[in-house]
Amino acid sequence: MRYTGLIEKYRDTLPVSDDTLIISLGEGNTPLIKLENILCEMGTHVELYIKYEGLNPTGSFKDRGMTMAVTKAVESGSRAIICASTGNTSAAAAAYAARAGIKAFVLIPEGKIALGKLAQAMIHGSTIIQIKGNFDDGMQLVKDVAEFAPVSIVNSINPYRLQGQKTAAFEIIEELGYAPNYHCLPVGNAGNITAHWMGYTEYHEMGKSDSTPIMLGYQAEGAAPFVKGARVDNPETIATAIRIGNPQSWDQALKLSKDSNGWFDCFSDKEILATQKMLTEKEGIFCEPASAISVAGALRDIKSGKIPDGSSVVCTLTGHGLKDPDTAIAQCDQSAMINVNPTLNEVKKAILDHM
Ligand code: F0G
Repeated sequence: MRYTGLIEKYRDTLPVSDDTLIISLGEGNTPLIKLENILCEMGTHVELYIKYEGLNPTGSFKDRGMTMAVTKAVESGSRAIICASTGNTSAAAAAYAARAGIKAFVLIPEGKIALGKLAQAMIHGSTIIQIKGNFDDGMQLVKDVAEFAPVSIVNSINPYRLQGQKTAAFEIIEELGYAPNYHCLPVGNAGNITAHWMGYTEYHEMGKSDSTPIMLGYQAEGAAPFVKGARVDNPETIATAIRIGNPQSWDQALKLSKDSNGWFDCFSDKEILATQKMLTEKEGIFCEPASAISVAGALRDIKSGKIPDGSSVVCTLTGHGLKDPDTAIAQCDQSAMINVNPTLNEVKKAILDHM
């Protein structure tokens, strides 16, 4: 079979025709993993599942949207795509453009994108335009330049992106057999939380689930416009993926939060990193800092009782931990690395000393 991705699987709910040439890298169908050790230690009866979106082809949920956006760009005759990005969108745009044989231009904030994402954008051959500004500046420039240059915007303001991303909610309902009571996501531009809500409400209207979840959005303290209720001028956080002060899907996210009886909350960089480390050490699941915030949020709200005992909760882990090796290494205890001479005695001693 030529196409293995989500467009083929969900084509009845997506804006494609039989003649559409699908640009796919086999995205979607990511694991839904039940957390065991952390919840057991907490002594709660909440069922908490991780939707591990870092296992998409370029290592983040962006591939779900990018397969649709690039498929539709190619269908409309476009020969080039453009995006502003904190890293993951640029990685996905670069890869899917390469697959389609078209050009990708990516605007990134200089010095503020994780190493793995930069490597991806570079190796796939996109044209990288670094700006001395943040994501919000880049997004405005992309909107302005697209008026003059023959390029298709593939940021989440492109409606096809959200169409692709809504399929994550479909997969969750199909795997669980029901919609969870709560769905937790990190929020930057708020495209993904909007897409998930679309997916959940669509399946509900189609009679494929009895209910829709309460949608919970979490942000970094220094980049928390939804918590503050106003756009933020100079967003700052170690979770560079969500270092965004002017979310593009502002209205949609406010509305869905209200409609679903949800809420927004925020976390310090320290709390974000602690949760990232806890997931790796206690569950064997490695995600990037921005992704860990969804679990930080769920755990805080379970502890406080805002999420009641007996609930089912899904947290989206949006990007793989390998995206940001610098941050991972920096927060580890460097003394865990033992330097020895290559002799049996020294290696044996190192093991026995650390049993
Ligand atoms: N998590 C990760 C790992 C992300 O890369 C992003 C967004 C988000 C969460 C937030 O999703 O914007 O839909 O609310 N990254 C974009 C990018 C901005 O350029 O890669 P959102």
